[in-house]
Amino acid sequence: MSTPHNNAKKGDIAKTVLMPGDPLRAKFIAETYLDNAVCYNEVRGMLGFTGTYKGVPVSVQGSGMGMPSIGIYSWELFNEYDVENIIRVGTAGAVADNVELRDVIISMSASTNSNYAAQYRLPGTYAPTASWTLLSAAVRAAEAKGSRFHVGNVLSSDTFYDDANSLADWQKMGVLGIEMETAALYMNAARAKKNALGIFTVSDCPLRGLSTSAEERQTSFRDMMEIALETAVSLGK
Ligand code: HPA
Repeated sequence: MSTPHNNAKKGDIAKTVLMPGDPLRAKFIAETYLDNAVCYNEVRGMLGFTGTYKGVPVSVQGSGMGMPSIGIYSWELFNEYDVENIIRVGTAGAVADNVELRDVIISMSASTNSNYAAQYRLPGTYAPTASWTLLSAAVRAAEAKGSRFHVGNVLSSDTFYDDANSLADWQKMGVLGIEMETAALYMNAARAKKNALGIFTVSDCPLRGLSTSAEERQTSFRDMMEIALETAVSLGK
């Protein structure tokens, strides 16, 4: 069995998947951290690998950018490949004043300006929420590492280049950071009765006009990836 977007056969993918937006980052995680990693997908260059971390099977697959893209890949993982847990590992822009470059954000919830929830025909506003099991495990892992981290609400935006400049309004509502995928991931997980979490490293600060160099990003990415991998291990085989 395969899908239009994924060549993997059933059983090729572990029950826990780390999902960076960039497929080359998936390759980096597989090569850096996983033992015996095997590539299971190359369709559209959206590389996916399965290996083990501390003896626990873990997969890592790119999601692409934006909610339509992560919507497709995460839907297929949850509904066609029996994946139980998806941990998005990505970058976010700082929104809250106390969030600094290279900090880690663990997203308890994901506000959005997207219309993704319309498909569920709900008579109100849905609140996309992380899995408590994954969230609490990630917080324990971040505390154990001594990382500087924040837990709270992120904004999943449909736009990177936005004409309206509305970030200050989201900031007033306590949003910690901005990214482009997590709300759809949380909705797909809820609909499939599965678990999801978004963990981010802060790569830039649009409100303050700051950004990190590629080299600086590499180290803080490692913190985030190690938190995600420890979370995966805590879930067992
Ligand atoms: N906007 C949207 N997504 C992002 C940003 C941003 O400023 N930084 C990292 N991901």
